[in-house]
Order: sequence, then structure tokens, then C-alpha cells
Amino acid sequence: MLFFARVTGWGKYLPQRVVDNHELSKTLDTSDEWITSRTGIRARRIVADHETASTMGTLAAQQALETSGVSADQIDLIITANSSPERVFPSTAALIQNGLGARPVAAFDLNAACSGFVYGLNIARQFVSTGTYRTVLVVGSEVYSRILNWQDRSSCVLFGDGAGAAVVQASTEPGGILSCVMGNESAGIEAVYCPSVAASPVDPLAQNGQYLVMNGQQVYKYAVRGMIESARTALHEARMTPSDLDLIIPHQANLRIIQTMSESLGIPDEKVFINVDRYGNTAGASIPIALCEAVESGRLQEGDRVALICAGAGISYASMVMEWQPKAALPLSPE
Ligand code: ACO
Repeated sequence: MLFFARVTGWGKYLPQRVVDNHELSKTLDTSDEWITSRTGIRARRIVADHETASTMGTLAAQQALETSGVSADQIDLIITANSSPERVFPSTAALIQNGLGARPVAAFDLNAACSGFVYGLNIARQFVSTGTYRTVLVVGSEVYSRILNWQDRSSCVLFGDGAGAAVVQASTEPGGILSCVMGNESAGIEAVYCPSVAASPVDPLAQNGQYLVMNGQQVYKYAVRGMIESARTALHEARMTPSDLDLIIPHQANLRIIQTMSESLGIPDEKVFINVDRYGNTAGASIPIALCEAVESGRLQEGDRVALICAGAGISYASMVMEWQPKAALPLSPE
């Protein structure tokens, strides 16, 4: 490894429209009490008609570039974590590149559902640490409101729309990303899925259209296991124990999943960042939105040790341990 990889910029965008549990209970056989007690979710944001993963991702990315102090023409690579794209192709990353007015650098989407952003950070780290690229933009942006079956109360109450972004840069000083463990347990491929426009017409899983279908209890079981095991391994690789962490930023799927996972790791509630109550599960956007809010609220400070822990459809999972050092230490001009 030649360089250290640091997150030097962060940004987020949430649609204006707030839909709380009471509003959902007007059209669905559900209640605020059921949703809150089972998931911790009180409200979620839903896009306006003109908004998409790329428009939200562009706004989040602009904010991340601003906090990082780099301009769009200094980006060397764009990775977008997305599982609800507005077009099958070109990629959401290509649309964001266009929205930012960035140079014609490589841009691609990465679909690991809710784990996509941490996968993306780890890919950015590989390019940055070898010296291939100096500045990588990683965006997580999702519009699950357009892939939900709004008649299915067991899934639609859980999700929301939003976007988050981070700038990853090379540094000669230690700190930043210390370790990352990624995995996927394909035994759980049918626990949560969403057929696409290219699904086989004889695929029984695609018979009900292009909507998310979920077996909540199966997702719960696989997700908790993947999060705990990857977090333990990532901590071990960073030569740390859970008590060394100042903060964990878990994927905001469900308060009970977060509590089961953090209790098993022995991490007290005050070290766990939570915003699932306000946004629900925003899939690949959940971790970057939470990371951004953790910094903005002062919960994450320079020198802190933080773990990002996630799981999603696949069943994908990933954990990353960082020492939060948000300043880059290399000149920014491209090679
Ligand atoms: N309102 C009222 N009742 C409901 C609702 C609702 N919104 N949804 C389900 N119910 C009912 C069910 O019909 C069932 O009724 P029954 O007993 O009469 O059959 C009862 O509540 C219990 O249902 P369960 O599914 O057993 O409830 P459970 O306690 O497992 O909680 C939940 C469901 C919240 C979905 C939970 O399983 C969970 O959080 N799983 C994880 C899901 C997740 O995080 N998915 C994200 C990954 S997605 C991705 O990566 C793309």
C-alpha cells in the first residue's frame, strides 16, 4: 500500500416530502404503534415526481465536493451504490457525472443493495491506496418508493428515499480507512428481491411485477449474522476490539436489527448512531446519510474510531473500520 485512504467530504440530500406512519395508516391496514414498536421508524421521505436517484445523488455529491474543498474536475472516478436506477443503462453514476459537469473519468454503478455504499468506499480505497487515483466520489442514492408495492404493508412501511455521498482521497499520513470486510450469503437470495424489466417471463418470482418482495424474518436472521461476523473480523483486522470504538454507524434498516447487533458486539446505545426513526431504510443511501449527519451533529470527531456496518439483499454485508481523519495530505492535481 502506497497511500492511506481518507473520507474528506460528505453530503446528503433528502426529498422534502415527509410521510409519517399516521399518513400510511390512512391507506393501509397498519398503525403507528405497529410500525414504531417493530421497526423504530416514525417517518420517511418520498421523492417528488421530477426527482430520481441521479438528481438526488448529484445534489448530495455537490455537497460532498464542497465539504472536501475539491471541484468536480478533480474527480478521478465515480462509483454509485444504487439498486433503484431510473434507467437500466446508462448507469446512475454516468448521469451524476453529467449532472456535476465532471471530467470524462470512469463512472459505474454498484449493486449490493443496502451494502453498496460500504462496498463502494472499499473499492475507492483500493484505487486510492495503490496510487491509481487520488480523488474518488462515492454516492449512495435510492428511490425505493418507486419499486415498492404500496399495498404490501409488510414491506412498504420500512423504506424511504434519499441520497448521500463521500469523497475518498489519498493521504500520506496514517488514518482513514483501516480495514473492511465484505461478503454475500447467497442462501438468502430469495429473502428479499425485486425483479427487473429483463426478468424471464416464466420466472414465477417475476409474476407480480417489478416490485420488492420480502420475507422479513429471513432477512432479519441473515442480516444480523452478516453484520456481526463482518464487524468482528473488520475489528480484528484493524487490531481493535468493540470497546475501542467511539461510534458505530449501522445500516438504518430497523431499530431491532441494530439493537440485536450492537448488543451482541457489546456496544452501548450511546455509541450507536440512529436516524431510522426519521428516514426509514434508504438502502444504499442509508450509511452515507447517517455518516453525514454524524459529522454535522458533532457525534463523529477528528481522531474518533468509527465502524460502518451494513447488510442488504443478496444477502450482502460489509463492515469498515475507520479512524476519522477528514483532511487529505496530498496535492490534488491529477497525474
Ligand atoms: N402493520 C400491521 N401489521 C403488520 C404489518 C404492518 N405494517 N406488517 C406485517 N404485519 C402483520 C403480519 O401480517 C403478521 O400478522 P399475522 O400474525 O396475523 O400473520 C404480524 O404482523 C407479524 O408479522 P411478522 O412478519 O411476523 O412480523 P415481524 O415481527 O417479523 O416484523 C419486520 C416484521 C419488521 C419486517 C421484521 O421481520 C424485519 O424488520 N425484518 C427485516 C427487514 C429488513 O430489514 N429488510 C431490509 C433489507 S431490504 C434490502 O436490502 C433491499
